[in-house]
Amino acid sequence: MEIPFLNKLFLGDGFALFKKKSQVLGVDLGSSNLKIVQLKKERSRILLETYGEIATGPYADLPVGKSAHLLDAKVREMMMDLMKEAGAKAEQAIVSLPLRSSFIKVISFPIISEEELKEAIPFEARKHIPVPTNEVVLNWMVLPQGEFSKSGDEGFIKERKTQDILLIAIHRDAIEKYQNIFQSTRLGVKAFEIEIFSYARSVLSKELHPSLLIDLGAQSTRFAIVDYGVIRMAHTIDRGSLELTDALSRSLGIEFDRAEHLKYDTGLSSRPEHKEIKSVIEPILDNIFSEGSRVISEYYKKYGRSVKKAYLLGGGALLNGIQDFAVSRFGIEVRFADPFSKVEYPAFLKETLREIGPTFATAMGAALRAIEE
Ligand SMILES: Nc1ncnc2c1ncn2[C@@H]1O[C@H](COP(=O)(O)OP(=O)(O)OP(=O)(O)O)[C@@H](O)[C@H]1O
Ligand SMILES: [Mg+2]
Repeated sequence: MEIPFLNKLFLGDGFALFKKKSQVLGVDLGSSNLKIVQLKKERSRILLETYGEIATGPYADLPVGKSAHLLDAKVREMMMDLMKEAGAKAEQAIVSLPLRSSFIKVISFPIISEEELKEAIPFEARKHIPVPTNEVVLNWMVLPQGEFSKSGDEGFIKERKTQDILLIAIHRDAIEKYQNIFQSTRLGVKAFEIEIFSYARSVLSKELHPSLLIDLGAQSTRFAIVDYGVIRMAHTIDRGSLELTDALSRSLGIEFDRAEHLKYDTGLSSRPEHKEIKSVIEPILDNIFSEGSRVISEYYKKYGRSVKKAYLLGGGALLNGIQDFAVSRFGIEVRFADPFSKVEYPAFLKETLREIGPTFATAMGAALRAIEE
């Protein structure tokens, strides 16, 4: 099975896949929700055939919204249930892997040849990866340097004597686990890729400036900076939207289910009667978003380029008031991810798909991998 995390970041090997069968499934195995998107290639058109989401909680006797660590058999069962529910018939899939089973780091190297790099990187990787290198699958790519060595924006000029390498390591265990999950289904997995590569593909177009992608999941929040079409910085923290629900449940003394509903209905509403709710969730978001600000300034320090736009994705991006909140914290333009804008679908779905778009950015990105050349 091919596990090409990097080689074709924006360039899938899709046409080979579509020759046989024109449908493909993008799969996002989130901790609280499993999401799928099925696309069909019809000449130069990419059609949305179906999509769906299912909560993982109930498969582990937990409420909807909780993150669940499921046995492989349960994941398989959930996958089959969701495909049935959504009427998804694709036989080929691209599966997005959670960033937490991987490490992504940019490391600097003297400018040496590709051959020399090949030898040097596995040694160098040991210093940067907190687990033995034989426990991970290692992958890397040389980040394009040219633009940075001429001059950055805002008059920032830097002569570079080193090259940056994007280093990616994924736990072998995690890969084996996912291979095992899909082995006994009728779905053929054409490739696994780390989730940030999936949503970078579905959210961004040809941006002129660095963009910050913020994936607000249930269990964790991921920040990634994409510049010149490539991921150049990634950071994850183990705090997510689930923490908002837990905090509401605790501080208001209510059941998890009720707290989850309250979060959906009220969010960051600034109405006087919602003051208490806001006072519980805002400090948590403040904390999470301060990591985003840190990533933005770290990027500027390193490359002299300012992030001009942020994109919100993941279910946590559906929280009422989050866009204004993000603008107030980052002071830059903030948009919602709109991954369905990359494909064609019946017009009456437009509003719905725009609204739920942030949740499906990862699954859509995975499916698009099979289509883009
Ligand atoms: N309309 C909404 N308002 C507020 N929160 C929402 C809304 N819809 C979903 N969420 C929250 O989004 C979270 C789920 O997001 P998502 O599906 O991206 O997570 P996940 O992919 O399962 O998690 P992770 O990426 O951390 O593994 C849940 O905590 C859920 O409560
Ligand atoms: Mg997720």
